[in-house]
Amino acid sequence: MSKIEKIFENNKTWIAEKLAVDENYFENLSKGQSPEFLYIGCSDSRVTAEDLMGVQPGEVFIHRNIANLVNNVDLNVMSVINYAVRHLKVKHVVVCGHYNCGGVKAAMQPKDMGILNPWLRNIRDVYRTHKTELNAIQDEEKRYERLVELNVQEQCVNLIKTAAVQEAHKERGLIVHGWVFDIHTGKLIDLKIDFPKILGDIMEIYNPQTAHKKRKKTEKK
Ligand code: CO
Repeated sequence: MSKIEKIFENNKTWIAEKLAVDENYFENLSKGQSPEFLYIGCSDSRVTAEDLMGVQPGEVFIHRNIANLVNNVDLNVMSVINYAVRHLKVKHVVVCGHYNCGGVKAAMQPKDMGILNPWLRNIRDVYRTHKTELNAIQDEEKRYERLVELNVQEQCVNLIKTAAVQEAHKERGLIVHGWVFDIHTGKLIDLKIDFPKILGDIMEIYNPQTAHKKRKKTEKK
């Protein structure tokens, strides 16, 4: 049996297993989705979102890209965020990075990666922002792990900069979480992102209402 044939065989087994527990399983699944979570993670084949969280179909809206980046000119991730937050009204948004991330490792090396250069530059920008802390870490492996964590943290900041997330936080208490999957142990680590503090810090510059308010003030005069 080829690997492709095996996948179709696996699919048949999976259907049978689901139907054995609930004969209306797929019937119910087809009715719609109302996930409470949006998960933004790495495309890495070893970091299987649903598996490591132990969740079922319908529970988590998922977006994966190289090194779990939230780039504000990436129409793909921005569409996912807007749809999940404004329409599906998820309660939690998670950015999940992982140790031994190839994308993060590539960004740490002075090498021309072709089309990947502009993508990896986002990680290099994280390094630049936290250069003092990172350069002070002697152990290269530890420095790399810390960059994985700081990258997650910065992608959470990028999420909090968006109008959709700020509005949903104000209206219904939406929370942003930063996690790291430790590939050596299988453990999920909560970086305990301080949402209110980050929001307070960035509001002066990234408040989507600021420009509008300033304009109104000028108009009144
Ligand atoms: Co990765």
